Amino acid sequence: MSKITIIGAGNVGATCADVIIRRELASEVVMIDIKPGFAEGKALDITQTAALHEFDTRVIGVTNDYSQSAGSDVVVITSGIPRKPGMTREELIGTNAGIVKDLIGKILSYSPNAVLIVVSNPMDTMTYLSVKASGISKNRIIGMGGMLDSSRFKCYLSKALNAPASDIEAMVIGGHGDTTMIPLTRYATYKGIPVSTLLDAETLNKVAADTMVGGATLTKLLGTSAWYAPGAAAATLVEAVIRDQKKLMPCSVYLEGEFGQKDICIGVLVIVGKNGWEKVAEIELNEGEKEAFSKSAEAVRTTNNVLYEIKAL
Ligand code: LAC
Repeated sequence: MSKITIIGAGNVGATCADVIIRRELASEVVMIDIKPGFAEGKALDITQTAALHEFDTRVIGVTNDYSQSAGSDVVVITSGIPRKPGMTREELIGTNAGIVKDLIGKILSYSPNAVLIVVSNPMDTMTYLSVKASGISKNRIIGMGGMLDSSRFKCYLSKALNAPASDIEAMVIGGHGDTTMIPLTRYATYKGIPVSTLLDAETLNKVAADTMVGGATLTKLLGTSAWYAPGAAAATLVEAVIRDQKKLMPCSVYLEGEFGQKDICIGVLVIVGKNGWEKVAEIELNEGEKEAFSKSAEAVRTTNNVLYEIKAL
């Protein structure tokens, strides 16, 4: 069975570990944190639920000891500082770029074949940094933002339709930012029925707007970033890799010409399986969607440029 490492044992990392364990995706989960005793404590707490949830996954927590992650199949990167109310994800770049860059080398020295799932914000830029700094195949690096944003989109659609979220298909592409996300309303369906035939334009616009600020709304309510949906979104990506599901998922990946973009990581639909993301699905976008996508890419690129300004790349 598989081994999965989660870097960062904060709210998102611990939630991700919990979901992975309950879905029985691994024989061993390793949690690593910089705060002494923190990952050890979270791992022990989760381990003490084994009799209650009836799982036998070994959960290990360590302080900065990357040797414990050796031979991982998947590594989830959640490290870094979270947003405070009123902050954008982009404002975290200075601190989080240093953290993410530093740990990429450590991860790969112990798990040279791992698939990396990037959660740290600003997520598209941290995914780009991971691709550039690691030198490994672009296919082994997946940014998880689109999974989270699409789950939020389905949540708001389900409320508007008064229907279960699991009966809804909907995807968000573009950047994982309050103004860069693109909820693809035109492609959203309820049991195969286009939602545009079930909800009026005003409601649909409100659903899209709520989706885009889904994270900011929670940051305001919680005083820090969300964790249940981000943790579950990352775990769902881990599952697609571990079970080689070949699912079509909205993820941030390195583009080399798809949708007219290159040298950027941004949310598109990709097939996810055991070797990471395999292929970008170049779905047809109308003029408005194309324009939104290039604007989104421009904004992500502006944030990426900061990596060069601060000499992280
Ligand atoms: C959010 C953060 C994790 O959207 O980006 O909740």
